[in-house]
Amino acid sequence: MPAQFQYVSLANEIQDKIASGQYRAGDRLPSLRKLHARARLSISTVYQAYIELEKRGLVESRNKSGFFVKARLHGEQAAPKLKLVEPVPKPVNVDALAKVIVEKISEPGIINLGGAMPDPSLLPIKQLTRELKSVSGEDMARLLSLYEHPAGSPELRREIVRRTTGTAKRGMVDEVIITQGCLEAVFLCLRAVAKPGDVIAVESPTFHGLLQLIEDLGMKALEIPTDPQTGISLPHLKDAIDRISVEACVFVPTFQNPTGGSMPSEAKEELVELLGERDIPIIEDDIYGDLYFGETRPATLKSFDRRGMVLFCSSFSKTLSSGLRVGWTLPGKFTERVIRMKCNTNISSASLPQHVIAQYLKNGAYERHLRRLRNLLKNNVANMSLALREHFPADAKLTMPQGGMLVWVELDERVDSFEVYKVAEKEGICFLPGLICSTSNRYRNCIRINCGGTLTPKVDQGIALLGQIIKDFQH
Ligand SMILES: Cc1ncc(COP(=O)(O)O)c(C=O)c1O
Repeated sequence: MPAQFQYVSLANEIQDKIASGQYRAGDRLPSLRKLHARARLSISTVYQAYIELEKRGLVESRNKSGFFVKARLHGEQAAPKLKLVEPVPKPVNVDALAKVIVEKISEPGIINLGGAMPDPSLLPIKQLTRELKSVSGEDMARLLSLYEHPAGSPELRREIVRRTTGTAKRGMVDEVIITQGCLEAVFLCLRAVAKPGDVIAVESPTFHGLLQLIEDLGMKALEIPTDPQTGISLPHLKDAIDRISVEACVFVPTFQNPTGGSMPSEAKEELVELLGERDIPIIEDDIYGDLYFGETRPATLKSFDRRGMVLFCSSFSKTLSSGLRVGWTLPGKFTERVIRMKCNTNISSASLPQHVIAQYLKNGAYERHLRRLRNLLKNNVANMSLALREHFPADAKLTMPQGGMLVWVELDERVDSFEVYKVAEKEGICFLPGLICSTSNRYRNCIRINCGGTLTPKVDQGIALLGQIIKDFQH
């Protein structure tokens, strides 16, 4: 074969191995010398093949480290589509079922495709432990003996504003309230803007934790059709708020739970304008916003808000530690009310976790950690998605998230994912069945898969077994 074609056939061979999952996203290709010896080709032919693969967008060279397989999150794969159902306010009744499932997800030893978490090995546990151990005796005495301010540690509030805006602007620091995780932030904001019996608009499907809050607060959920690619359907939302008195909205517009989908920036701006004009507050849950796979962070609803009607909520649970229970909210014009709620609920959040995170943010390590985490999650999502496509029925439709860690799978209408769940659970595999992501039994044939973990051989086998269980239900 002429020399100029040898590099092309080598590139094709490697491309096939990438497509079949033999080489996975994040894997390092063999060194030029190794492959030169193994394939009996000149080093320059191997090098040309790698450059060819780089041109095809399949690998990337990293300074002095070699060539690595790139994560590919685009493809011709069919994606789940928006379910067009007319929004009707409904009392929520998902708590009992969600509790059973969430307890299962926390069991050790299980192949856990159910939680929404990065693999613990991706988190900077050692660095956080170091920060904890370096707290001086004097600081420790103060942190353990005094209540924190109800709005939270001034140091942490400054750091949160500094990392979102570049400077610690006074007005914004005053707006930040530290909470015990993002869910407490949403809980306080919901109580600040609505009361029992009120109608709250949510995405459909949505995060079951938000439905459970609405249920506990005796409110009603109004599900607005949401497309994994284009986000909340603005025509449906507009039509719903024309017909129904909606007191507030709780949306996760960026790397949404459960679909992993995001709303484009222009649609986010339109959404803020539409609801702002009607004086309807939006609680924005942005817990996955920092975990983008692209070049830049997606815009928040908060960034388009000129009226103080967006109550922004987030936490460090998906990026640093869920156990430290540190989240925050910037509730716009409802700040005073939310501080009062926080104070009257539990006085303030624990001071030691706030101190540890503030020190970690101050030394700049957080941004470095986030850059690494995004890269690793992107690889994990690409590899897990490939395994899902390989083992699940060919007509399964998967979302392709551009951030976060969640993939939503729509199965054949005949498959009841809760029945699949019961069989899979006995085999030691856990995932989130779609029916708890809605108040109306709408997503029985859907499942949410956590792709935050590494695709180990054990996880791959678990996905294969789950795929087989689903296929059995289909026949
Ligand atoms: C959208 C969303 N909001 C809130 C939470 C809970 O966050 P936290 O643990 O910080 O309370 C989760 C956890 O999965 C989530 O997915």
